[in-house]
Amino acid sequence: MIRLAISKGRILEQAIDILSKINVICKYDPLNTRKLIIPTNKRELEIVVIKATDVPLYIDSGKVDLGIVGIDTLLEDSASNYYRLADLEISKCRLVVAGNPGTKYFNNMKVATKYPYAAKSYFEEVGLQCSILKLYGSIELAPVLGLSDFIVDIVESGKTLKENNLKEYDKIADISSLLIANKVSYKFNRTKIETLVSKVINYGK
Ligand code: PRP
Repeated sequence: MIRLAISKGRILEQAIDILSKINVICKYDPLNTRKLIIPTNKRELEIVVIKATDVPLYIDSGKVDLGIVGIDTLLEDSASNYYRLADLEISKCRLVVAGNPGTKYFNNMKVATKYPYAAKSYFEEVGLQCSILKLYGSIELAPVLGLSDFIVDIVESGKTLKENNLKEYDKIADISSLLIANKVSYKFNRTKIETLVSKVINYGK
């Protein structure tokens, strides 16, 4: 049995769409069911839907063989003990530095983010120290209320920045979603996994 983890949230709908295009149909609607393990029409493939930040741990432990997860999540995972099998080119967005207009970088500025590792690495490269404020959502609120000087966050349409009068200062990385695999599981299930990967890569062609 191959177990595939899909990140909850914006990735899920597009991932399910790709699976249905390669004729992998979930027996329960992943967007509605409360079932944690979802069988599919392929006897050898089941789906688990989990929080994006939990995907690397499940993959690393081998409890899950494959995962569909955003590069933003993987940037925060220091272990990086998995194979990157394919870029699914879904949920495309970018990781950026943003803040109130007219603000300049300075030493020991406060940076609010869901991505402390990526944020710290970026500012280290720029040659500045910063204190990271780890938040879990609505990151844009932090500079608006003066909790932080800058944010490091995902921008997709740019609507959230615009509606809150924030300015994008720099792009840290382009983000999309990858199909990743546990290394041991990949070796043991190579043929099955490669068949699935080639269908996923070629589904639109
Ligand atoms: C993400 C991100 C931004 C927003 C950007 O938040 O953290 O807030 O989307 O999207 P946009 O550029 O299309 O406006 P998400 O909706 O995942 O929720 P969160 O704020 O609770 O993290």
